[in-house]
Amino acid sequence: MYDTTQQNRLLELTRKLLRTDTLPETAHTADELREVINYHDWRYYVLSEPVITDYEYDKLFSFLKQLEGKHPEWQTPDSPTQRVARGLTEEFTPVPHLVSMLSLENSYNEADLYDFDRRVKEFIRHETPEYCIEPKFDGSSIALIYENDRLVRAATRGDGIMGDDITNNAMALSSIPLRAAFSKYGIYRVEIRGEVIIQRHIFEKMNEERRARGEKVYQNARNTASGSLRTKDPNETRARHLEAIMYHISYAEDPQGNDLLASRLTTHYQCVQILHDCGFKTPLRELRVCRSVSELQDVIHEWNERRHTFPIDTDGMVIKVNSLRHQQVCGSTAHHPRWAIAYKFAARQAHSKLLKVEFQVGRTGAITPVAKIEPVFLSGVTISSISLHNEDFIREKDIKINDTVIVERAGEVIPYIVGVVEALRDGSQVEIEFPRNCPSCNSALVKPAGEAVWRCDNADCPAQTEERLIHFVSKDAMDIEGCGKETIASFIQLGLLKSIEDLYRLPYEHIRKLEGWKDKSVSNLKNGIEESKKRPLWRLLHALGIRHVGVTTSKDVAAHIQSIFDLERMSIEQLMAIEGIGPKVAQSIYDFFHQPANIRLLHELKKLGVNTENKPEHTAAKNNKLQGKTFLFTGTLKNFTRARAKQLVEENGGRLLSSVSANLNYLVVGEDAGSKLAKAQKIPSIQIISEEEFLQMIS
Ligand code: IVH
Repeated sequence: MYDTTQQNRLLELTRKLLRTDTLPETAHTADELREVINYHDWRYYVLSEPVITDYEYDKLFSFLKQLEGKHPEWQTPDSPTQRVARGLTEEFTPVPHLVSMLSLENSYNEADLYDFDRRVKEFIRHETPEYCIEPKFDGSSIALIYENDRLVRAATRGDGIMGDDITNNAMALSSIPLRAAFSKYGIYRVEIRGEVIIQRHIFEKMNEERRARGEKVYQNARNTASGSLRTKDPNETRARHLEAIMYHISYAEDPQGNDLLASRLTTHYQCVQILHDCGFKTPLRELRVCRSVSELQDVIHEWNERRHTFPIDTDGMVIKVNSLRHQQVCGSTAHHPRWAIAYKFAARQAHSKLLKVEFQVGRTGAITPVAKIEPVFLSGVTISSISLHNEDFIREKDIKINDTVIVERAGEVIPYIVGVVEALRDGSQVEIEFPRNCPSCNSALVKPAGEAVWRCDNADCPAQTEERLIHFVSKDAMDIEGCGKETIASFIQLGLLKSIEDLYRLPYEHIRKLEGWKDKSVSNLKNGIEESKKRPLWRLLHALGIRHVGVTTSKDVAAHIQSIFDLERMSIEQLMAIEGIGPKVAQSIYDFFHQPANIRLLHELKKLGVNTENKPEHTAAKNNKLQGKTFLFTGTLKNFTRARAKQLVEENGGRLLSSVSANLNYLVVGEDAGSKLAKAQKIPSIQIISEEEFLQMIS
């Protein structure tokens, strides 16, 4: 990044600037200050080897702030003073990634590694693969885009296709350079990936301070990092001492728009070196190149110990094919690249005592036994409650009350009871009695043939209604602000809420008189509920709480219908024709829309003003980047499903066509495109573009 000569010059300049209290008021001095501050940021945040005191640093910084304050025309957008100067973020705008942010496949043992090695070798035929291995950082992933050496955008992972724009917050992290010399490598535009983490000792110190102030302590470093990236105030983000470690170049092009990955850039190792040289914190020092599985295992063994003293939480290692050309040959599935694999360290286990079992009623009536255990601390979190799934699970593992249970938690995975320690039974153990009646409404429970779960079938069961309402208003569903779990529970208790429809008939005058409510909170609630009437169709579909229908499925289905009532008429086959919908999901949607009570609910919601249509203004009009343009997608798409593609086009004001004709403006081609491509090539007015080019059009 900075060679010795440059460093000596910058140190000399630092001394010169610090020598006097009255600096010349010139644009040149502002330039000099920015240059030295950037250098000291790098020494401090990337190398962790500062060469000036905090006091001296602050002095330089306040000089610069004064100068820029007096002469705003001398300020530059990438000035270090701009890191927290952007003010509050109202809302995080969703933005598409240039290349999908995939997950990693997991492996746990030697056999898995040999399997991976064999598959890679099959792909690259007779060549011998070289692997890079590096720690898997346990944080929150981030994607940065630089153009012309300037940071232009930062985004969270989101669903892998779209993330949240968190540029303002990312700018507050001093380990993310606002300017990085990619142009030195002929790179004009680049998308890079990494992980935002909080070092362990900093996290512990933060918690000590919170404890001393009588505040609630943070649960673990990863959740704190990911939460801190999404605070509305960049100052708050800065205060949490996050760091970004960048480990991947996902996209690089030269000023002419040529793809540089696998042409000019040749290996993963080289990419990490470039990132390091451009001033990022990277795993370069930890990175090892291996030529066989046994070499990989040596590194894994070493890290199995080292991770305990490594300052950053790691939950495994990542193994990547080094050659970018080989990576391309291996390709990716919709879920993960085939050229990389995560190796997870063995899960940590702890013993605890099972105190009692509670039975919870879910929104679909499923009864879930939940073990209440003596609290244990495991991989960074305190666990006191663990799902026991169902009756079969309990019988299979022979779990009894007062048993010593073995609790396991691997990285981000939900805690799990592996089994009981029979040798520690002392005669006080008692069988877990599974209820035959609903703990909430007392109706007899039923267990459909072939299913493991007992259910309460009473549609009016208060516990189910409560769960359904909590889901209905939640962030990923109707996102009703001012109406949380507690509000719902208390309204149900008071008899103000008996069903979802009641949300839209709340007696606000009456609520205003209730304890704990003020004019402001009532008007917040009312606003939140009014706003929710305008939500896009997929939110309503998700909010209904249909079994197996999550956010992605709701979006896929909503992209195929005009009105929620279309689903009443669709057959299971028609539903399965939607990409991403299998028989189980199709059946579940079909069943839901063939229950008269559900249809009545939807008509009632419509009458109360809730949007039930796929109005273009609901999906759309975030912007008009594709206004008046027509699109058609062909071939196997690797970045998004067909339904999502349609949505992206419409959200940006474009229109989708179903066949190639002279009316078509853009044909977006995936892999193995066939006759549509051939036909389009004969019509000169049609532009044939790649998925990435399409994403660029809307980015
Ligand atoms: S490579 C296509 N390298 O692990 C590139 N990922 O479980 C895939 N992660 O989403 C990512 N440390 O957020 C890579 N050294 C590392 C990593 C790493 C942590 C995260 C990353 C990814 C997740 C998958």
